[in-house]
Amino acid sequence: MEPFTAIDVIRAKRDRERLSDDHIDWVVDAYTRGVVADEQMSALAMAIFLNGMDADEITRWTAAMVSSGETLSLDVDRPTVDKHSTGGVGDKITLPLAPLVAACGAAVPQLSGRGLGHTGGTLDKLESIPGWRAQLTLPEIQAQLTSVGAVICAATEGLAPADRKLYALRDVTSTVECIPLIASSIMSKKIAEGADALVLDVKYGSGAFMKTYADARALAETMVAIGIGRGLRISALLTDMSVPLGHAVGNAVEVAESVEVLRGGGPADVVELTVELAREMLSLAGVSDVDPAVVLASGQAYEVWARMIRAQGGDPDAELPRPAHVHVVPAPATGIVSHLDAYAIGVAAWRLGAGRARKEDPVQAAAGILCHAKPGARVAEGDPLLELHTDTPEAIPAALTALQDAYAITDTAPARPPLITETIRG
Ligand code: URA
Repeated sequence: MEPFTAIDVIRAKRDRERLSDDHIDWVVDAYTRGVVADEQMSALAMAIFLNGMDADEITRWTAAMVSSGETLSLDVDRPTVDKHSTGGVGDKITLPLAPLVAACGAAVPQLSGRGLGHTGGTLDKLESIPGWRAQLTLPEIQAQLTSVGAVICAATEGLAPADRKLYALRDVTSTVECIPLIASSIMSKKIAEGADALVLDVKYGSGAFMKTYADARALAETMVAIGIGRGLRISALLTDMSVPLGHAVGNAVEVAESVEVLRGGGPADVVELTVELAREMLSLAGVSDVDPAVVLASGQAYEVWARMIRAQGGDPDAELPRPAHVHVVPAPATGIVSHLDAYAIGVAAWRLGAGRARKEDPVQAAAGILCHAKPGARVAEGDPLLELHTDTPEAIPAALTALQDAYAITDTAPARPPLITETIRG
């Protein structure tokens, strides 16, 4: 006999009441068990979207989603610390960051996702490495954390199953962009993962989920508060996502750029964000005697990367897939690139085949875009501005349409916002 009906809970939120702890525990559990139907949870999600949840409700909702599945208990001889990005365009930071932090002395269990829509997915990028395997068992994760110090893999099926169901539902009911639901979704998975500490990279700007700084800040504060409530050491960096990170957007192209960074080179913005996130992660993990900038430049992080890729069946020395077609977009004028819109570049890369429209769609390993000139760069008319990569040339016109207002070239250099605006510490 169930203690409530879904209608009780939906009506309460519809009428702007606070959901009781018992309501929340029951509805999340009953939805996971299939007692609450998708259409009922859709109505509740929309009521939450419209009427919100207060801090206590969000904390309880998150805890209920954690309890819907297993919680990993990581038995590692070093402090564990994880990073989560709210997603962006060209955001390959996890790739150099996880081995870098491991090379500095902490263990990094990085359970990652796939891309959906215009934002890329870490697993899709890594799968462009021949042989690399995303799916690991819990004992494999544990063993690799001990032997290598870093794991980037898919979340195990049993982790926060309530969120898995609810996220798929939100995706098709226009209830994704809701701070209480996003914060509880992200934090339930991260808490279930069992790391001691967590650094959030909360992005704002055209290429991010949160378009405005104010919304990103509210999301960051909500997630930090949830983490503190669960005893996590946690902080959040607010970072700009109005321009793609680095020059490469796509799958294999982002792996290649990450390897450049791990070898001590690469674009300045990718290096800056990687090093600052590493500093924050190491500080939360209590590792204070190492400078990640020095470790990155020394090539030690690359050594960890190579071992991490090999441990998951990949060949770090293998040639990455190349596209069947390359289309160059030339600079239309001489001047300074003053604008390069992250969202437009993300959509174009997606249309070229780097991303997927539905979860079950395949992605092209070689698809993506190389941005030869970023804001502030001087170009001459006819210089290559963007390089479009795809195996399906029929996708190029749609990508070019997405790029119509993606860039501007002017006479003066643009004022660039800082990459990292603020750090919110727990
Ligand atoms: N990422 C998640 O995991 N959940 C959300 O709700 C949004 C982004």
